[in-house]
Amino acid sequence: MYDTPDLERPGHVIEGYDKEHAERTTRIVQTVAKEAGLAEKWLPELEVTTLLHDLGRAGMDAELFGKIFGVAQEIGLPIRIRELRAKYQHISEEQAPDFFVSHIKQALEQRGIALTLRVYDHILMRMDFKGRLRRQLKERAPELSSMGITVKPWMEKVMLYYYYPQEMAGEPADVKLMGMLLVACENFEAYNNRRRGKDYYGRRDEQLREVFTALERFERDGLVSARVMATLKGLTASGALDNEMKESRGQTRSQALLAADVAFQQELAASVNRQGASS
Ligand SMILES: [Fe+2]
Repeated sequence: MYDTPDLERPGHVIEGYDKEHAERTTRIVQTVAKEAGLAEKWLPELEVTTLLHDLGRAGMDAELFGKIFGVAQEIGLPIRIRELRAKYQHISEEQAPDFFVSHIKQALEQRGIALTLRVYDHILMRMDFKGRLRRQLKERAPELSSMGITVKPWMEKVMLYYYYPQEMAGEPADVKLMGMLLVACENFEAYNNRRRGKDYYGRRDEQLREVFTALERFERDGLVSARVMATLKGLTASGALDNEMKESRGQTRSQALLAADVAFQQELAASVNRQGASS
């Protein structure tokens, strides 16, 4: 589903960069959702939702994507639509892609990256994630339907929650919870993911402590609730997510976690116990 034909090279396929991330995120979400007390009836559709959540980036060339948004960070241009609109409040959602282009064009050209359709399409992967996701879902609707899958409006809102949290307003508590579970777990996977770290976060290694430092920002921003964070911390501390963590980092299951991570798991376990005792 994530693999797409390469329009610049007929006969070639761009392998879906996010497919392993999506699959692993799905397993993590299922584990955390059950522990967080989400009603069981939601789990099958939540599974479909999390598997498809990054389809809006199908066709991504990770190197080009990393270059474009790396330049944006260099020049202080926010790289997510939510942050862009927080900084430039007069910009509407529809204006965001062109606003972003007008601010980055020169810096890209100075670094030898011309604003081709391919570059623009990669900008849309973040600046119009909603439109791109919807187009991808529409294109794949016949294939999905042959598998008995219909993407319902709430499922789309869960997929879009990270970039468009405001669209969650008015949804039932369970749907909001699923949005939060996805943001927490997909970022847990992404911050543990060695390949992503190297390709587009400019990271040299992954450490559990840093993963949670990053995740706590989402809790502070109100994007993820304290309950979801506490559940994720508890499961991480217990070792229930060790296999997914090892996979994210390119380790085999029989390899041991880094000593620093085991120590951090113990720290997490102690803090989870303290919180449990005080509440
Ligand atoms: Fe993701």
